Amino acid sequence: MTKKGLVNPLIYPVAAIIDPELMLTLPKRVIAGPGADVLFHALESYISRNANPFSEMLSLQAIRLLTKNLPRVYEDVSCLDAWEKVTQASTLAGMAIDCAGTTLPHALQHPMGGLLDVVHAEGIAALYPVFLEYTWSASPEKFAAIAQAMGVNTQEMTTEQAAQSSVTAVTNFLKGINMLPTLSELGVKEEHFDWIINNVLTTMNVVLNNNPRVPDAKALRDLLTRSL
Ligand SMILES: [Fe+2]
Repeated sequence: MTKKGLVNPLIYPVAAIIDPELMLTLPKRVIAGPGADVLFHALESYISRNANPFSEMLSLQAIRLLTKNLPRVYEDVSCLDAWEKVTQASTLAGMAIDCAGTTLPHALQHPMGGLLDVVHAEGIAALYPVFLEYTWSASPEKFAAIAQAMGVNTQEMTTEQAAQSSVTAVTNFLKGINMLPTLSELGVKEEHFDWIINNVLTTMNVVLNNNPRVPDAKALRDLLTRSL
């Protein structure tokens, strides 16, 4: 079934109450999935072709706050100080995607959610290592800045080395919160690929085109195959 996005100025809230105390009873899987999605929002809005200096600032600060503090709440759900930082990161990353949008992983997960009820963040996480490998060389300065925001010491590295180190940094981060499934584990099979690829190219073109490197049908199939 095709999943559609709904966007209209009338559905914007006038105000939002962000209360970290509401997070103190979350189970680990719900901390890890939506928590990782904050990183996905921050990272994808940062590299998006639609990013601007304002959204880039929000994205990078969200990456710094999230990667430092999500592992803390994953270990100890009662850590209110860390929850404050995680919810700040989530708010900033939400504002950043509002300006700049998301990119390839959100586009490619979208049809899976409609076809197979794959959980949003888990489907995206399964695509992430391959997406990062596919994309970093199209925007090395930005991926180098992502590595720095995650705390990687890039001083002795070239821009390309620093950019490539973001692949390992993000993958290890996801491993650390047990959020690195394969597509097979989520129920996605090769027989679903034709439908997923056709659906992403017809319904998610705008998001797909935000990626610094835009895949065609053949490249999408390769990304899916490598993520099985
Ligand atoms: Fe998301």
